[in-house]
Amino acid sequence: MRQPVVIANWKMNMTLSESEGFVRRFTGEEVAGSGVEMIICPSFIALPSLAVMIRETSLLLGAQNMYWEKSGSFTGEISPLMLREIGVRYVITGHSERRTYFGETDEDVGKKVQTAFALGMVPIVCVGEDEEERRAGKTEEVIGRQLLTAVTDLEQEADRRRLLVAYEPVWAIGTGTPARAEDAAVVAASVRSLLHQKWGETAAAVRILYGGSVSPENITEFTGEPGIDGALVGNSSLKAASFAAMIRAVNAERGG
Ligand code: PGA
Repeated sequence: MRQPVVIANWKMNMTLSESEGFVRRFTGEEVAGSGVEMIICPSFIALPSLAVMIRETSLLLGAQNMYWEKSGSFTGEISPLMLREIGVRYVITGHSERRTYFGETDEDVGKKVQTAFALGMVPIVCVGEDEEERRAGKTEEVIGRQLLTAVTDLEQEADRRRLLVAYEPVWAIGTGTPARAEDAAVVAASVRSLLHQKWGETAAAVRILYGGSVSPENITEFTGEPGIDGALVGNSSLKAASFAAMIRAVNAERGG
């Protein structure tokens, strides 16, 4: 059984005090005992303080990015060792905004995936086609290239099983118009089938998420699909009540 997961990607939103306020409000929400894994990915600035605040909660911490070298002359970058030391367990890699605005390549994503696992963290590999690629019928091709380059060097069975893949069609991110759940399910199935061709039965353990305009109102359309194990959420994850509502919805949908 794959545990459902809801991930908050705050992007470049919320100051330190706003981030702390979120965690305080979230702890007042009724989500205790839910079987849903809950991960928040705040700004780097907020990570150390939130790492302390979430100790008494079921929240887990993710970073929105990292560099693949452990240390060195890389001005402005954040090392995986810095993240691991404060208790960061997950790291988003290859988000479309990083690919588009900061030139992150498929090969960069592959290096980050390797490094994350080597240092005991779990990467959340984002893949997704843009509007033009979708119209040209290239969705599967784009996703296949992004995914297979990202996981090319993963040799350990344990790492493969812990991998998280988020299918995030670029045209659905931040637009208020999500993909249709049945279409997202088709892409999720092709992600699993690509992994199956490469890794065999291990692919059945990999959690595949959907992201792009997910909200408390629509989240269970996606998690109701048997091949979709959760959601990566931007805008609707910025309010504690909304994040909690999504977790409760998924929990209820899974019979929790
Ligand atoms: P959104 O962002 O939920 O605001 O569409 C999702 C994401 O970019 O991860």
